[in-house]
Amino acid sequence: MAVQINPSILSADFARLADEAKAVEGADWLHVDVMDNHFVPNLTLGVPVVESLARATDTPLDCHLMIEAPDRWAPQYVEAGASSVTFHVEAAAAPVRLAREIRAKGARASMALKPATPIEPYEDLLPELDMLLIMTVEPGFGGQAFLDIMLPKIRRTRELIGKHGLELWLQVDGGVSASTIERCADAGADVFVAGSAVYGASDPAEAVRALRTQAEA
Ligand code: DX5
Ligand code: ZN
Repeated sequence: MAVQINPSILSADFARLADEAKAVEGADWLHVDVMDNHFVPNLTLGVPVVESLARATDTPLDCHLMIEAPDRWAPQYVEAGASSVTFHVEAAAAPVRLAREIRAKGARASMALKPATPIEPYEDLLPELDMLLIMTVEPGFGGQAFLDIMLPKIRRTRELIGKHGLELWLQVDGGVSASTIERCADAGADVFVAGSAVYGASDPAEAVRALRTQAEA
């Protein structure tokens, strides 16, 4: 299980996105949080910014769509240059159809679960996905405290992935830092999103390296 560290540009300076992307070269992916002020009570960026960012960096973009109507919008993020697109199952009208469409367009398909959404009803969907995202805070804002109560869900999901013999990546997002990443890795996560823990550090690239070392331990 290779560890991947995905810095979240939500905690970066939005006026200097290209430089902020360069500041974490060496990270596996750049995590781009798209919020529409409906699915979550916050507003960030959309398709045009993703298009520009894809041109500005060689690091592949991991777009996390915290938006209503992902069935309509997710394919546009693939066209904009995202290499992985995550939609929320709570917002998707037809998650299987959507995952297949994202894959058919050439990106990795990923599905996210808010903290109160259980994994069990979606067990049969796992083969349709390249990644599952378990939120470890309520989506909407960076810098929130990690929800320890999500650790059993991470563990159960890892067991389901093993039971079905899948290659699925298991991503955690929210409150991931030097003090929580080891618990996430122990529970079975292998892709780690970190916003404030990376961009709040004086040397973001070094913060990525340190998180990777911890997760691999
Ligand atoms: C929150 C976003 C996260 C956020 C994480 O809704 O999905 O990606 O940037 O920020 P930290 O790592 O500061 O919790
Ligand atoms: Zn996110």
